[in-house]
Amino acid sequence: MSCHIAADTATYNFAVAGSVFKSDKTTPSPNGILYFWSEFGGTGLLVATLEIDAVGNFFTTSSILPAFGAYPQMRGTSGAIKTMPILAYTGNCNSCHGVNEAPIWIN
Ligand code: HEC
Repeated sequence: MSCHIAADTATYNFAVAGSVFKSDKTTPSPNGILYFWSEFGGTGLLVATLEIDAVGNFFTTSSILPAFGAYPQMRGTSGAIKTMPILAYTGNCNSCHGVNEAPIWIN
């Protein structure tokens, strides 16, 4: 994802990025954490973790997702946990969420 590449500054080419909202699907949900698992339902190998920042965004320029994909799971500051039921093969999470799937949300 190269949306954040600015012509005259350092380049940010995100390998994994997206936004997390609260249950109203509008208010950002800050300070949670994302886990990426090798197996369904938050099992197998913990492939990577990624922090959700103070404004509900997560992003990294590191290619943390393996080629065979991973199952995203997130924990909100309330302690709630949600797990994606299918493999994510791309770190462009907002290519589905907020487009043809619900926005990613957790309280
Ligand atoms: C190819 C489309 C697609 C991509 C890309 C995608 N997802 Fe998903 N995701 C889904 C579908 C389909 C579901 C199941 C339906 C739902 O809960 O919205 C889901 C569910 C989830 C859930 C559980 C939501 C809930 O309410 O229980 C989380 C968390 C999640 N995805 C995180 C991510 C993250 C993080 C990424 C990027 C690494 C990502 N997804 C990329 C399609 C996608």
